[in-house]
Amino acid sequence: MSTEQLVAAGPQARPAHRSAADAPPAVRVEGVSQVFERDRPPVLDGVDLTVAPGEFVCLVGASGCGKSTLLNLLAGLVEPTAGRVEVSARRPALMFQEPALLPWLTASGNVELALKARGVKRAERRTEAARLLSLVNLADQGGKRVHELSGGMRQRVALARSLAQDSKVLLMDEPFAALDAITRDVLHVELARVWAEQQLSVVFVTHNVREAVRLGSRVVLMGSRPGRIVREWQVDLPQPRTIESPGVSALAAEITHELHREISRHGH
Ligand SMILES: Nc1ncnc2c1ncn2[C@@H]1O[C@H](COP(=O)(O)OP(=O)(O)OP(=O)(O)O)[C@@H](O)[C@H]1O
Ligand SMILES: [Mg+2]
Repeated sequence: MSTEQLVAAGPQARPAHRSAADAPPAVRVEGVSQVFERDRPPVLDGVDLTVAPGEFVCLVGASGCGKSTLLNLLAGLVEPTAGRVEVSARRPALMFQEPALLPWLTASGNVELALKARGVKRAERRTEAARLLSLVNLADQGGKRVHELSGGMRQRVALARSLAQDSKVLLMDEPFAALDAITRDVLHVELARVWAEQQLSVVFVTHNVREAVRLGSRVVLMGSRPGRIVREWQVDLPQPRTIESPGVSALAAEITHELHREISRHGH
């Protein structure tokens, strides 16, 4: 598939693979500005973003442009200085670069803790944790403690723990950035599968443009100083995709070109 076939999306872009376009959005950000320090320019200014149910939106942009800030606003960790943020899930699930598991618990114990926080009864927690761990291909690893798991396995436990929140909205901030390429590819397959099976709406921050195209149904490019959305692309490539496939490479090259233009505009 050539890049010409990959339609650059306008603001009314619809999800490529779901018929849920008429349902209320999973995420709606309107005219959001964020100022942390009064005498400094805003970190975000006039950001509008709508994520339809079932969409997988990847945010890319230069370091410091405000991607994590936008995700933290969606997570409700930060209140916007101006504008509106609406998320359909009461408590969206979060996943960061570090798995942040509790080392004195097993893999299963970490997932069970999230189930407990959700109010799942003790008798059901073990079975539900086993189901979630098998979703991320860790069916037989539930009894292992954190130090007995590889980095990739830990991040899978963190994904299972996020899914334990049973939220339809998943917010991810560079969740695979610290992993080697092969483990990351495995997790891409698992995340794409879980996303489709659970019909999640995902907002995924990454520095890796190929990763964004590999996973996303839409890629949103943010500019810096102040952080704002400068362009977006609908990714109409068939799934399953791989990070090496020609269609992924072609679109990633186009987006990387735009990203570099944005970065050079701001001299860093
Ligand atoms: N709580 C805060 N108080 C003050 N400044 C903040 C706060 N959070 C973020 N910032 C500033 O906002 C800007 C954007 O930060 P943010 O972490 O959102 O960038 P980012 O795009 O996620 O960068 P990276 O790609 O490096 O993770 C930075 O200049 C940062 O110093
Ligand atoms: Mg960040």
